[in-house]
Amino acid sequence: MTPDAPDSRDLLSFLDFHVAAGVDAVLDETPHDRFAESEAPRRAARAEAASLDAPPPRAETETETARGGPPPRQDAPRHQDAPRQEVPRQEAPSTYGRSAAAAPGEAAGDARELAATAASLEELEALLARFESCALRFTAKNLVFADGNPQARVMFVGEAPGADEDRVGKPFMGRSGQLLDRMMAAVGLDRTNAYVGNVVPWRPPGNRNPTPQELATCKPFIERQIALADPDILVCLGGVATQALAGTKDGILKSRGRWFPYRTGRREIRLLATLHPAYLLRQPLQKRLAWRDFRALRAALDEGGA
Ligand code: URA
Repeated sequence: MTPDAPDSRDLLSFLDFHVAAGVDAVLDETPHDRFAESEAPRRAARAEAASLDAPPPRAETETETARGGPPPRQDAPRHQDAPRQEVPRQEAPSTYGRSAAAAPGEAAGDARELAATAASLEELEALLARFESCALRFTAKNLVFADGNPQARVMFVGEAPGADEDRVGKPFMGRSGQLLDRMMAAVGLDRTNAYVGNVVPWRPPGNRNPTPQELATCKPFIERQIALADPDILVCLGGVATQALAGTKDGILKSRGRWFPYRTGRREIRLLATLHPAYLLRQPLQKRLAWRDFRALRAALDEGGA
């Protein structure tokens, strides 16, 4: 008996399952088993090591001995002697390109060198648009660089774009963005007198958290963006931005409301940690804490003559 062919409802729920699990980006026509691929070189190395340990083929030793030559050195490279191992071909990842596979430290080093060369925010955005050492750029639809006024005295920094931001190409466009706009409006701010960016400028697929490696790779760019915008006050929205920029390992419920010194490279400014609007959408009672932080922000701006 042949199993029934799946109907369209089965296929749709199969697709829904994948999207809910975060598999929402198609990179290639055919699936790849990356676990098997990364295991292949190790398997080949083990096979080669095993062949080195094996005694040399008898006939070879006899021939050498008959010629009076020395038997082959056991530690000499034996690539030509060893039976050819059938090594499964490692397919070059076609979509990521060479530099996206760079080792973590190398990618962050590339980023640091490149970011330092940007003399303006426009140049920095253009460099980021060509930067290939962060694989997120290949799954994202758009680079999400900034919104608002780069001349503003206050800059808000979030974590990473979500689906709405990825579609539009600007930070904080979805529900958390609407809440952020309302919070800003409550203290007389909007996107004409505030500048907004993210630590990671590409959407992590399926809205997962950025990995430590992705954060390390993107950090030099947001640091340069802050240095070039040169605000008086930086507001970190949520724990990821706070930990990345304030140099604290504390969770956001501990660090929120605190002012940290932040060195832009030109001067020292003040960094305020507060709760992320996405968290406040899930925990509306905590808005009272964010309200305290935003009032402190307003007071600091007034002190400085905003
Ligand atoms: N969350 C963020 O941290 N940044 C955005 O741009 C949107 C949602």
